[in-house]
Parts: sequence; structure tokens; C-alpha cells
Amino acid sequence: MEYSFAGKRIVVGITGSIAAFKVAGWVSTLAKEEARVAVVMTESAQKFIAPLTFSALTGEPAYTSMFNQAQSSPMSHIDLAQDASAFLIAPASARTIARLAHGIADDLLSTTVLATRAPVVVCPAMNPKMYLHQATQDNLERLRQFGYHIVDPDSGLMACKDEGQGRLVEWESVQEVLLRCLLKNDLQGERILITAGPTREALDPARFISNRSSGKMGYALARAAYRRGADVVLVSGPTALQCPFGVKRIDVVTAREMYDAVLAEFNNATMLIKSAAVSDFRPAVSFEHKVKKENAGETIEVVRNPDILYEIGRLKRDPEQIVVGFAAESGNLIEEGKIKLQRKNLDLIAVNDITSADSGFEVETNKMILIDAEGSKQLPWASKTDTAHMIFDYICQNLRKTGN
Ligand code: CTP
Repeated sequence: MEYSFAGKRIVVGITGSIAAFKVAGWVSTLAKEEARVAVVMTESAQKFIAPLTFSALTGEPAYTSMFNQAQSSPMSHIDLAQDASAFLIAPASARTIARLAHGIADDLLSTTVLATRAPVVVCPAMNPKMYLHQATQDNLERLRQFGYHIVDPDSGLMACKDEGQGRLVEWESVQEVLLRCLLKNDLQGERILITAGPTREALDPARFISNRSSGKMGYALARAAYRRGADVVLVSGPTALQCPFGVKRIDVVTAREMYDAVLAEFNNATMLIKSAAVSDFRPAVSFEHKVKKENAGETIEVVRNPDILYEIGRLKRDPEQIVVGFAAESGNLIEEGKIKLQRKNLDLIAVNDITSADSGFEVETNKMILIDAEGSKQLPWASKTDTAHMIFDYICQNLRKTGN
């Protein structure tokens, strides 16, 4: 799969921290995803975890010294540096961060990092006082200026029983930063506004009108856009999903809240992808207190919500801004899609067939048709993640004409 770690040469630098054991899990995951992983360990790292652990996980000896001829070639720091698709230094101790910040090449890891031109991702892990010390902060700032990617540590209780910021981050975040470094950044410079999930329209504090949207497609789009280098804002209705790493999420509940959020953000966006399933109607009255059945009528009067996408299509002036709609249909997919494309003044619409059990609401997969002014393209049945990438491939190739 083009959008994964498969075939990538990842050099993982392990330094002296109790969190080193966690990185064994990361190395195992990378190896399972068919990355070619090389592990370089500092001397202190080897006091926390044995090189053998990493050799077993990667299938190649862990690199521990500049001068161990039996283990590697005399030029292993140059070979590793040149071969690397990316460097991941985790856990990164205060000492290694200081070495890297000042170009002190006195062990295999610091020498190799100095010799590489591959992207470098640094995950600090240390006692909170050490982390917050001006010396460490200044060193991290220098690394940022070199273009290194720093993944800030988490806060919580440390192994040393101190509490604060210094815990090694979770793999889920690191993976996103690494992928963004490794993948083709064909969405760099784009500010993409994505809407996801359902909206909820309250009848009273206990009841609402909504729909079956889980938000999975919109969240997959947000994650894919971040990985391809975009700045992403996600306007999300209520979902059970975690905000993807690197994405700014604005939570909304009702269609009118989504309308306000989208209109406020649209001017600053280069692209809007409206994958949310907006409730077309809301109850005419929303009661402050729960309605007792004795007092309730037999029908619920509803009023129309604003059509957010229609309004955007009407207001759009900048021809460089791309507006993408979604349509959930249960028949005449292409005809219905074309009508909405024109009526809402869209550049592209992605239509899915919600009558199919493996496409549309709640499920992990989709089978979409993309329609623009030039024609239509049937995408293959695929995971929502792959579908998201196929939508961006299409946009880059056909609307931005930046793809190849
Ligand atoms: N949409 C919107 N605001 C609404 C309703 C829909 O912005 N009040 C957007 C959706 O986010 C989606 C597109 O319009 O991108 C199409 O949504 P859909 O519900 O399929 O279309 P409708 O215009 O509501 O038409 P209908 O439900 O009658 O098929």
C-alpha cells in the first residue's frame, strides 16, 4: 500500500530512558507493517533494554558502536544515514537532545544523525523538571530550527514518581508524524476544512432527531489530509471517534452550529470537504424540560435547517477554492449526484450507495462514485482510509492538476 510504512527504511535511535521498552512495541509494529527497521542504541539505552530484543524484532543486529567490526561495516554510520527514509529518535534523552542540538558526534547515533539528510523525528522522554529546563527547551528549539520534528511528551505520573510533562508519547501520534514525513506531501500548502458525523436536533434534553452517520469517512479524510501535508480543520458533529493527530477539531451538535462554524472557517480554507450528514430538519420547538408522554402530541412539527453546502456554493467567489460535497443515495446515483453537483455549485461530489451493506453509514468500507464537470469515476470497494486517499488522488490529479 502506497500510504504505509512498507518498504521504508526507518532508523530508530534508542537512548537511555526507562521508556525504551515501549519503543520495542513500536519497532515490532513497524516491522509487521513491512518497514525495514534498523535500531541504533546509545550506551545508556543498553542499560535499560538488551540489543538482542531489537535484533529479534528487526531481523538485523542492533547497532551499538562505531567501532564494532563484527557487527557492522566500518562506515555503518554513513550507510545508515544514506539509506534512511526517516530517523525516529525515541525515547530521546536530555543528553542526546543536547548532543544533536550542538552537533556533538561522539557516538554512533549522534554521528549518524549528523550525516543524514532524511527527516528526523524526535520524541523526548525524561523527568518533567529536566524537560522544562531552559537548557532542554533551547536545545529542542534548535532542533526545530534544523527542521527536525519534535513530538512533545505527554503529561502524567512518571516512573520516578514525579508528575508533569515528560512521558514518552503514544505510538498513535508518532505514527502520524512519521507518515507525514514519509509520504508524498502533495497537499502541502492546502488548508482543508472537513465536516464529519451527524448533527443532532434536540426535541427536549433527552431526545433528538439525527441519522446513522458515524463520522468514519470524514475522520479518515482528515487523517489522510494531515498525512499528505495539509493543515486540517475538522468540524465534527457528535461521534465516538478520537480527533486525528495534528488536526484542529471544532465540535458542534446542531446543523445551525455546523453552519456557523463552516461559514466562519471557509474564507481561510483552500478546500472544503463536506462529508457530514447534516439533518435536513429540526423540531419546530425544542423543549427545555423533558416532555411527558401525557402532554405530548402525536406528531412532531419540524422546520428546515439551512443547507450549508448550498450556501457555500452560492457565496464562493475564489475559483481556486475547491468545494467537495458528499451524497448518500439509494438509487440513480450518477443522476442524483450530477443534480447536486450543479445545484450546490460544487467542484466535485462523492456519491455512495447506502443500500449496499458494505458501503455508507457505520461500516468500515465504502464504494463511491466521484462526479465532476468532466464526468464520473467509479472508485473500487475499499476501506474508508483508502477511499479518502483515492479522493485526494483524484483532487490532486484532476482539480489541482498537481498529481502525476
Ligand atoms: N448538506 C449540507 N446542509 C444540509 C444538508 C446537506 O451542507 N442541510 C450537504 C452534505 O454535507 C453533503 C451534501 O450536502 O455534502 C449532500 O447531502 P444530502 O443529504 O445527500 O443531500 P440533500 O441536499 O440534503 O438532498 P436530499 O437529502 O434531498 O437527497
